[in-house]
Amino acid sequence: MNLFDEDMPRSPTENGNMGQEPRIDRRTWLTGAASLVGATAAGLLAPAWLPAEEGESARPTHVPGRSPSPYGVRAQGETIERLTLATHSLTPHQSLHGIITPSALHFERHHNGVPLINPDRHRLLIHGMVGRPLMFSMNDLVRFPSVTRTLFIECSGNSGHEWKGPAGKTVQDTHGLMSTSEWTGVPLATVLSESGVKPEALWVLAEGSDAAAMTRSLPLAEVLKNALLCYAQNGEALRPEQGYPLRLVIPGWEGNTCIKWLRRMKLGTAPFMTHEETSRYTDLMPDGTARQFTFVMEAKSVITSPSGGQRIEPGFVEIRGLAWSGRGAVRAVDISTDGGRIWHPAQLQEPVLPHCHTRFRFGWRWNGEEVLLQSRCTDETDYVQPTRAALVAARGVNSSYHYNAIQTWKVDQAGQVRNVQV
Ligand code: CO
Repeated sequence: MNLFDEDMPRSPTENGNMGQEPRIDRRTWLTGAASLVGATAAGLLAPAWLPAEEGESARPTHVPGRSPSPYGVRAQGETIERLTLATHSLTPHQSLHGIITPSALHFERHHNGVPLINPDRHRLLIHGMVGRPLMFSMNDLVRFPSVTRTLFIECSGNSGHEWKGPAGKTVQDTHGLMSTSEWTGVPLATVLSESGVKPEALWVLAEGSDAAAMTRSLPLAEVLKNALLCYAQNGEALRPEQGYPLRLVIPGWEGNTCIKWLRRMKLGTAPFMTHEETSRYTDLMPDGTARQFTFVMEAKSVITSPSGGQRIEPGFVEIRGLAWSGRGAVRAVDISTDGGRIWHPAQLQEPVLPHCHTRFRFGWRWNGEEVLLQSRCTDETDYVQPTRAALVAARGVNSSYHYNAIQTWKVDQAGQVRNVQV
């Protein structure tokens, strides 16, 4: 089995529901119903949740609506979903707006399933090279001074199948292993200082309480800068699949370092060389050596609309997408409609936050000719998102992780959008 494969979406042929968007609009409902019950007197059946077509009950201004509810749900008929695989699910970026991913659509990656954890019994142990080992309950942790930050989390395997060629059909396939949430928690530095970290300690092991006991070794000086012990996501408790009740979040670093269901942090002098950081999460270079401890997710962007599987009409089209950088804030996004020869600056939607998705827009008129749409991100360090050719020249095609090349969507004369590489 290819170990790396677990961190990336399967190829489209392995997924029955890829490529075909399961969007259900009224027309689909009606035509679908008509084909099923064509012999009925009406010939058409509205979905059960829609009111009758005629009469008083069809008029929302004429009949009282429903009562308040204790926990909201989206409108019936709104059906966008994560695409679920054995160990992952992918965010449907082609259907989302703004920068916040709804918690229910935040991508997932589990190494052995989502554990069921009683928050009253959950503990975080700090031990190893510390003055005094400490054990914290969730109530203890929530009492510390907290901060809230809006941050992307990107799996290092996001776009990983694109190393070998244009694999994903949709942007959900190619870029669905990333999401953005507003995270609230306690700075890791605050909690570690309670234990008195010894000066010799240079690395810290973070361990989850899932059935994989997922672990990563992290360089202490780096994570002390801005890592958070998070207990809330988008204003409420973490979702179980996002690490409930406690998750380490390290701004801009590959998602696997943001240990979910966090239960233990051990201070030491060197990396702990655990299973996950030796068998997996290294990057094989063309000369046979491997890069290890490649934590930062480099600048990247993608056009989410129009994107693979969509169809556009001639005339005005707003090109929309997301840009981000693990090194800080996005400085600029440029758009090309000719495969990268001429670039035009896109508008960046405020706020432009460090280590966070930035929404970009570009007003465009499609004249019906074949085009190659691309976006290119430049971050605040002046790092420029590479072309595929430049990325492959530097890293070869043996890597499974850290694919951040410019994405190309080809629009044919029929307006159909497809994933290609140029
Ligand atoms: Co890495």
